[in-house]
Amino acid sequence: MLTLQTWTVQALLIFLIAESLGELLNQCGNITPESPVVQLGSNFTALCVVTEKCMDDFHVNANDIFWKTNHATVPHEQYTVINRTTSSVTFTDIPLLNIRLSCNIRAFGQIDWTVYGIGIISGLPPEKPKNLSCIVHEGKRMMCQWDPGRETYLETNFTLKSEWATDKFADCKTKRASCTVDYPTVYFVNIEVWVEAENALGKVTSDHINFDPIDKVKPNPPRNLSVSNSEELSSILKLTWINASLMGFINLKYNIQYRTKDASTWSQIPPEDTASPRSSFTVQDLKPFTEYVFRIRCMKEDGKGFWSDWSAEADGITYEDTLDKPLEKSPDVLIGWTIQGTKFLV
Ligand SMILES: *[C@@H]1O[C@H](CO)[C@@H](O)[C@H](O)[C@H]1NC(C)=O
Ligand SMILES: *[C@@H]1O[C@H](CO)[C@@H](O)[C@H](O)[C@H]1NC(C)=O
Ligand SMILES: *[C@@H]1O[C@H](CO)[C@@H](O)[C@H](O)[C@H]1NC(C)=O
Ligand SMILES: *[C@@H]1O[C@H](CO)[C@@H](O)[C@H](O)[C@H]1NC(C)=O
Ligand SMILES: *[C@@H]1O[C@H](CO)[C@@H](O)[C@H](O)[C@H]1NC(C)=O
Ligand SMILES: *[C@@H]1O[C@H](CO)[C@@H](O)[C@H](O)[C@H]1NC(C)=O
Repeated sequence: MLTLQTWTVQALLIFLIAESLGELLNQCGNITPESPVVQLGSNFTALCVVTEKCMDDFHVNANDIFWKTNHATVPHEQYTVINRTTSSVTFTDIPLLNIRLSCNIRAFGQIDWTVYGIGIISGLPPEKPKNLSCIVHEGKRMMCQWDPGRETYLETNFTLKSEWATDKFADCKTKRASCTVDYPTVYFVNIEVWVEAENALGKVTSDHINFDPIDKVKPNPPRNLSVSNSEELSSILKLTWINASLMGFINLKYNIQYRTKDASTWSQIPPEDTASPRSSFTVQDLKPFTEYVFRIRCMKEDGKGFWSDWSAEADGITYEDTLDKPLEKSPDVLIGWTIQGTKFLV
């Protein structure tokens, strides 16, 4: 019991000494630079300056300073004693690590104290963004994307800039490799777009691109697709739709796909058959009395820009085959049917 108490008191005493020493040492010096961002693979030097007063109080000098990274002592070959109060440490070829670097003093020849600590962040400057491209969603927004190049390991900000002769659009800021510009789209003007990449280690600008937004447009898909069949021809279905609103000032071409209701793969109408503006199309060579599903998409007739999304699907059933089934209107067929009917009744 007595032994335990003695031990506790001693421990407390050591703790108190440690605490007060720590507080003293906290104001004893600092490291410059304070919060460095270092380029991966480069050399880096830090200085630890200890106050004259602390040096005197603890009877130490810059030779008693030692450096630690993440608790491992840095070899003395990397130190340089600058003067009585200052030691520097140099690292060559900084690796990709979040390094804690501390400046320490061995006081009274045995107690190690940390004077100051900093964090070193390493990474790379941004590369020039490449392959900038934009897509204009009809009546909505413009989305631009680019290749940001290699990983930088640092917070990297991108600013998409766009302007045309008489106006500058708001900057589009992002940390990703694409940005969506929310401005009322203008057509038939030449706009200029570029992207700037910036992080703690540098700033670079992409090549500027110039284009007319109409040549980058992704139209809205055709609406109100509907299907009607033909009593005369059991092998056709007629599709009609409403022109995309862009139709007012540009010509569109179309892709039409179809499948039978229970099939999983689509067939496509030869694109050359739907390569000019239209708002209806008759699909031929279909099977009689079969349910088909259709969808349609559009893009600018000259092939500039992007295909719209597919429209909502619409379905229809081809008419029954006139050779197998009677048509009340036709007396010939009616007779045939009567014969067939008679046979059936027999
Ligand atoms: C880093 O230091 C080493 C050794 O002093 C030297 O050979 C090398 O050129 C330096 N590297 C850079 C990027 O300054
Ligand atoms: C020692 O060098 C450091 C860094 O160069 C400087 O700030 C400090 O004033 C110098 N101290 C003395 C005593 O020369
Ligand atoms: C450029 O970007 C476009 C669109 O994202 C892509 O289709 C193309 O392959 C890219 N080209 C290069 C050289 O990366
Ligand atoms: C990135 O942008 C944020 C604000 O969005 C800013 O606080 C930060 O300092 C920027 N970083 C760089 C490296 O420019
Ligand atoms: C198109 O379809 C919508 C809803 O599906 C309907 O409200 C609209 O009246 C249709 N327009 C025409 C011209 O049929
Ligand atoms: C759709 O476009 C065609 C071809 O330009 C035009 O003849 C037709 O009137 C348009 N239809 C509608 C509903 O706007």
